[in-house]
Amino acid sequence: MKPYISLLLLLPISLLLLLHSSPATGHLDIVRKTCKKCSSGDPNVNYTLCVDSLNSIPKSHHASLKGLGVISTKLVLSKASPIKSKIKRLLKDDAAHHSSNTSARIRSCLKTCHELYSDSVPTLKDAARAIRARRYDDANVGLSSVVDAPGTCEDGFAEAKVASPLTEENREFFGRAVIALSITALLQEQGGGGGVGGH
Ligand SMILES: *[C@@H]1O[C@H](CO)[C@@H](O)[C@H](O)[C@H]1NC(C)=O
Ligand SMILES: *[C@@H]1O[C@H](CO)[C@@H](O)[C@H](O)[C@H]1NC(C)=O
Repeated sequence: MKPYISLLLLLPISLLLLLHSSPATGHLDIVRKTCKKCSSGDPNVNYTLCVDSLNSIPKSHHASLKGLGVISTKLVLSKASPIKSKIKRLLKDDAAHHSSNTSARIRSCLKTCHELYSDSVPTLKDAARAIRARRYDDANVGLSSVVDAPGTCEDGFAEAKVASPLTEENREFFGRAVIALSITALLQEQGGGGGVGGH
């Protein structure tokens, strides 16, 4: 009698384990696996940030690599508006103060940064559309220019010899942009048709 009881107990337990583990690890895998590939292929990709940011979008767990490309691009896009708002606020604050040479230089840098981040919005929207349409080369071109924006913004302050009030924002934006670019590079390797071997 005893062996039968233990078998009967084991069966539902192993079934439960099977049901629980396979879909769960499967979904985690696409995010983790993709972030691992991206971070090993590009030292600028922060694995933790990649996993955390993709995990913040529940759809990621059911996404294809192409889906993750779109999601990661939208995550970059979601960072552009708050940065633009902060720059507007800084310009306003600065304009309220008396105009010194320093504030004139800061204002000029802020305006350049605002333009860079404004330009990134349509470029990111186009890149997301390009990924959906499997035009990965087009997406790469757009994302490559977006990846450069925060560095160009930051360099402006350095050249004007003033402290950047946007260092943290530029870092955050860059960190997310390189993830989207890196996922797009994986899609390019994989090939537009999703064929094995690629080019
Ligand atoms: C990577 O991202 C995590 C989470 O955002 C952050 O805590 C960590 O400092 C980052 N690491 C580097 C090297 O930037
Ligand atoms: C402000 O800038 C102008 C030209 O850019 C320069 O001639 C002037 O000496 C500067 N004033 C101060 C106080 O640095």
